[in-house]
Amino acid sequence: MNKQSPRTMATRRPLVTVVVAVAVLAGLVLLITQSGVFSVLDPAENAAHGTEEENAPLPATGEPDRLTVVDPADVVDVTEETLSYDGDVSADVTYPVLPDAEPLTDFLSRTLDADVAAFEAANPGAETYSAEWGLTAANDDLVGVRVTSTETDSEGSREGHSTYWYEADTGLTHGSNELVAGQDELDRLNALVRERSPETVDGAAVLPVAALYDSVGFNPDGDLVVEFDTGQVAPVDEGPVHVVVDREEADPLLSDLGVRARDAATVGVESFSVSGPPEADKDGSTEERPGLISPVDDTVDCSDPETRCVALTYDDGPGGRTPELLDTLAEYDARATFFVTGVPVLEHPRTVRRAYAEGHEIANHTLGHPDLTGLSRDGVRDELETVQAQVFRETGYTMDLMRPPYGATDDGVAAVTEDMGLAQIIWSVDTLDWKDRDASLVASRALGGASDGAIILMHDIHGTTIDASHEIIRELDARGYTMVTVSQLLGTTTPGATYHDGRPEKKEDPEDGSDGQEPAGDPED
Ligand code: NI
Repeated sequence: MNKQSPRTMATRRPLVTVVVAVAVLAGLVLLITQSGVFSVLDPAENAAHGTEEENAPLPATGEPDRLTVVDPADVVDVTEETLSYDGDVSADVTYPVLPDAEPLTDFLSRTLDADVAAFEAANPGAETYSAEWGLTAANDDLVGVRVTSTETDSEGSREGHSTYWYEADTGLTHGSNELVAGQDELDRLNALVRERSPETVDGAAVLPVAALYDSVGFNPDGDLVVEFDTGQVAPVDEGPVHVVVDREEADPLLSDLGVRARDAATVGVESFSVSGPPEADKDGSTEERPGLISPVDDTVDCSDPETRCVALTYDDGPGGRTPELLDTLAEYDARATFFVTGVPVLEHPRTVRRAYAEGHEIANHTLGHPDLTGLSRDGVRDELETVQAQVFRETGYTMDLMRPPYGATDDGVAAVTEDMGLAQIIWSVDTLDWKDRDASLVASRALGGASDGAIILMHDIHGTTIDASHEIIRELDARGYTMVTVSQLLGTTTPGATYHDGRPEKKEDPEDGSDGQEPAGDPED
């Protein structure tokens, strides 16, 4: 269910012009040899050097509490490319090009392009985006590339980091979350990071999700360093913050890749080059990716006749009291689905991340909540792509589901959502909680309509709904229902298709035509 890149971004705009600046880097100076001739440092020279200092490894370089820094001058024939953009956002993005590491070049080009597109799509006030690169490891056929980005929009400028790890022997490039062995280990690391965070960090915002662990590496001593972007876990005026976890504590949490990365980052670099093109048919893409959390829980099977599933859905948020709802859901080990809209996501990004981290499903309810049937197909796409990009940037998750505002859909909406890989989710029980701000009435409607396979519509922006939810969740639990996400309820969904409940999957009556009815549009759903 999880995808690592926002596929909807890839097809969007032809605004990218690649300017290959095969300029030699400032750092990659041509060395003046003793004979006065210019030449690039080469392996032969290295070998000669090696005879002087036999097996003593060079020390890694860098500040003690920051990621190791590899001087590009110590990497043979490294150059760089620049992506320039002529869209609404002025962007200037550079990344390294290493000989014999084409998969890395392709990955960086694709990923940075998607980052710019997501920034532009997620921020109506987007202005400029720049990215520069550095190397944090280059040893043992492993390369760590650290990207520093600066994005400016109407709210100001923010700096962030992403660090990618390229394995020359497989040709695979990994995100930093893959330095950790699994989700349990990431949970443990997250607890250590919380403990060791500076006082300015809001511990509750430190969550074990991929988007927060996208820049992890090692200092020259092998301690693990986690870098957070501006505003992610601390006030914006603190800028980016980083946390160091001692090597002895971090080591048991590392994946094989993590151990290899640590080893590569803790020795000095001299005349590094990738050994050659990767072997053809290795594939590590099925490995677990810590921090990418599925909205489907393998321990629950809603198609089992013994299991009665209900999907609680909350639209138009998140709101200020959504964390309280999350507390109650956690208390009952219940899952819900949050159909989020644009401004609330930007106002409550930490609530979105928390809901995601706790196994709830995040789904798309458009940027500005229009009746999509009144828009052009491009207009529908813009509404959905913006929120798709916002949630991806906050969590690393690409949403699979959307709910059209007012339940209003047509062939045009179906075509766009199909193209974007989004299934359309309506509902089977309407609590009318936007109209009747009465907690007991909302609770009785939800409980009265609850049945196996039901999708219940509510709005977590209303205090009365939060109040009602405590009772709804407690009572559904007492009645033996399992509260699940919509994806858990429906199983695999078809992009573009419309779903009202989870009953057809389970029941065998093909004549049940009630599914085709459109619920009446609500002014606020
Ligand atoms: Ni709505």
